[in-house]
Amino acid sequence: MGRCPGCGEWNTLVEEQAPEPSARASRPGRRRGEKAPRPVPLAEVEASSMERVLTGSDELDRVLGGGLVPGSIVLIGGAPGIGKSTLMTSALASVAGAGRRVVYVSGEESAAQVRLRAERLGPDALSIPVLAETSLHQVLGSIAAERPEVCVVDSVQTLYSEDLTGAPGSVGQVREVAARLERFARERGCAVVLVGHVTKDGTLAGPRVLEHAVDCVLQFEGEPQRTYRTLRALKNRFGSTNEIGVFEMRSGGLTEVADPSERFLGEARPVAGSCVLCAMEGTRPLLVEVQALTAPSDVVPPRRIANGVDRNRLSLVLATLARNGGPSLGSSDVFVSVAGGVRIEEPGADLAVALALASAARGEPLARGSAPLACFGEVGLTGELRFVAHAERRLQEAARFGLEQVIVPARCLSDTAPSAQAAATAADSLGDALRIALDPPALTQAA
Ligand SMILES: Nc1ncnc2c1ncn2[C@@H]1O[C@H](COP(=O)(O)OP(=O)(O)OP(=O)(O)O)[C@@H](O)[C@H]1O
Ligand SMILES: [Mg+2]
Repeated sequence: MGRCPGCGEWNTLVEEQAPEPSARASRPGRRRGEKAPRPVPLAEVEASSMERVLTGSDELDRVLGGGLVPGSIVLIGGAPGIGKSTLMTSALASVAGAGRRVVYVSGEESAAQVRLRAERLGPDALSIPVLAETSLHQVLGSIAAERPEVCVVDSVQTLYSEDLTGAPGSVGQVREVAARLERFARERGCAVVLVGHVTKDGTLAGPRVLEHAVDCVLQFEGEPQRTYRTLRALKNRFGSTNEIGVFEMRSGGLTEVADPSERFLGEARPVAGSCVLCAMEGTRPLLVEVQALTAPSDVVPPRRIANGVDRNRLSLVLATLARNGGPSLGSSDVFVSVAGGVRIEEPGADLAVALALASAARGEPLARGSAPLACFGEVGLTGELRFVAHAERRLQEAARFGLEQVIVPARCLSDTAPSAQAAATAADSLGDALRIALDPPALTQAA
């Protein structure tokens, strides 16, 4: 069959060796002279305190939950050319620089090509032992002899096992490669990082089962035209998944961006269609500029383009705006984007999207001072502004950048220290927020 009757995908079927008939016949726990294992209370399990391997990059370590866990397996995915190999090479360089054994398995590039990249990344990178090989059998043999503490496999889709018929990168092959490498990682206490490809719709290529099998799935993303890259954990068995790491691609490799708010807010001006969002990414507050543009549409249905915010939440915001005294944009094209190419996933971005849209539709800036207006808050279906966590941290970050007016859901202010409230203006609903932002009392009276 060319097409899988289960998932409907083409050319994904591969031939696998069936288990030996004798193995199939034996019933578990019934063999003579063999005792079935007994479960052990967790308190009696011996847990050696695992020391994490630091990768030398604070951003990467934070996203991993404090460094690589020995014996774990991490999958890092990202669009072509985003910088996955660069990130892993510089991480290995720093681990090798700290005196640990590492191996870089390159199935995609020749050793000479890997060297070219390493030259760009500094002298430590040139000390990484590289293995340009695509046969899983050879790779396992080689790393078993090398006994590395950290091993990068770039990429999991290029390795193949001779035991299976499918082409490298096919579902069966990828699953087999991941399973064998996982066994190696667990047995030898080696942290294995698999680099994976990402398909056009943004999901990791290969079977979903790959994401289940690994301990941690990292996604490396960014706009190809921009130099900023964000790294986030989609799954992490040893840490939180909310953290993001921000990097910038420079000629000397990926450098960490320690103060992302400063970078992303750099170009924010108080103009129509612009609003600053005080977001939280994991444990870190992050200020970003949300920009909106509306224009009369010549197509039905009109365009809804969202960059960096969720398209479904944009639809929700548009509907609540129309209901709560904001503009009705049913016959306008709507473009919303987060400047700098970051993606904001929290619902606390709703209010900023709404205010940026209202301001764009009116053609009036939101702020009356020299600093742009900032806000945060989730918009509910009835137009109420809902509580979001960490209001105090968000307000402090806004104060650090001299933002003088921050619109906040009223519910958020009750557990916020008075010192942090200097710039905060409370609003109960989206309608309130629109009035405060677009029709301040003084101006209304003058009119
Ligand atoms: N000298 C340079 N200065 C700045 N950026 C560079 C330089 N050389 C390479 N780059 C950037 O590095 C990127 C390639 O990085 P890398 O090979 O790590 O990506 P990748 O995600 O591993 O790609 P692939 O999916 O092809 O394996 C290029 O797209 C480019 O943006
Ligand atoms: Mg690569």
